[in-house]
Amino acid sequence: MLPLTKVPTTEPAADALKNQTVLITGAGDGLGKAAALQAAALGATCVLLGKTVKKLESTFDAIVAAGGAEPAIYPLNLTGANWGDLAEVAQTLDTHFGRLDVLCLAAAHFKTFTRMEDIEPKDWLESLQVNLTASFALTRHCLPLLRAAPRGRVLYVTDIGGRVAKPFQGAYGISKTALEVMAAQWAQEGGAGSTLRFHTFDPGPMRTATRLKGYPGEVLEQTEPPQAAARALMRVLISDAPSSAWSARAG
Ligand SMILES: NC(=O)c1ccc[n+]([C@@H]2O[C@H](COP(=O)([O-])OP(=O)(O)OC[C@H]3O[C@@H](n4cnc5c(N)ncnc54)[C@H](OP(=O)(O)O)[C@@H]3O)[C@@H](O)[C@H]2O)c1
Repeated sequence: MLPLTKVPTTEPAADALKNQTVLITGAGDGLGKAAALQAAALGATCVLLGKTVKKLESTFDAIVAAGGAEPAIYPLNLTGANWGDLAEVAQTLDTHFGRLDVLCLAAAHFKTFTRMEDIEPKDWLESLQVNLTASFALTRHCLPLLRAAPRGRVLYVTDIGGRVAKPFQGAYGISKTALEVMAAQWAQEGGAGSTLRFHTFDPGPMRTATRLKGYPGEVLEQTEPPQAAARALMRVLISDAPSSAWSARAG
């Protein structure tokens, strides 16, 4: 795994992502939605990929209402997506844009914290499929498009809670740890000697649907909504630093 680094402090210029194509998974809710809104505000054309069409439409409407470039909606349930479905995502991007500037993988499958011996096979398979395998396949299929961009960026949204083995992290924690190892491998192989970067980004605790599943008793006001983490994510995207493991957590 890459060593943890605090996110950069340099704010993006108002048009930092102008004419850039940004694919965001999990763009219908939480961090993915907040990141899509902010990327569009910085000039990007966003491709909003996610499971629930209504939520993607809500992100679409919010971007257009804010004066951003009209995004594209790509409904896809990553749980059932096979290699060919994920290749089709890249083919569609190629047809419409010819390149991909940012691949931001924010979608996550998380059911609940649980003991290893209680993990249901379905939860195990879906956690690894959505959080790891789909992220791998999308990176692999989009690689030529990312290389066609002047400074391609892949950003894997992770959760450093799983970095150290702890009880109850379950399949989610294992998938996120594997994601970080995978990102480091991509960085070593695909990032060397090029402008392409493979970052991981840990947003820290955010008040989202996923958080509520893991911490149902948490007082909602104690965690921030995802906007601040999305702003940190933008600072990572515009940075020219080498591929890194960024964390938005304080301290
Ligand atoms: N919230 C936190 O405290 C926290 C802390 C550390 C890391 N993170 C990470 O931050 C990222 C964003 O999470 P969040 O907290 O913003 O959660 P969220 O609001 O629940 O968003 C998760 C997104 O993933 C999408 N998704 C889930 N399963 C999918 C599938 N099978 N196919 C396609 N899309 C799917 C969801 O779509 P639907 O809504 O349509 O199901 C939703 O848009 C995740 O990678 C998470 O691990 C979160």
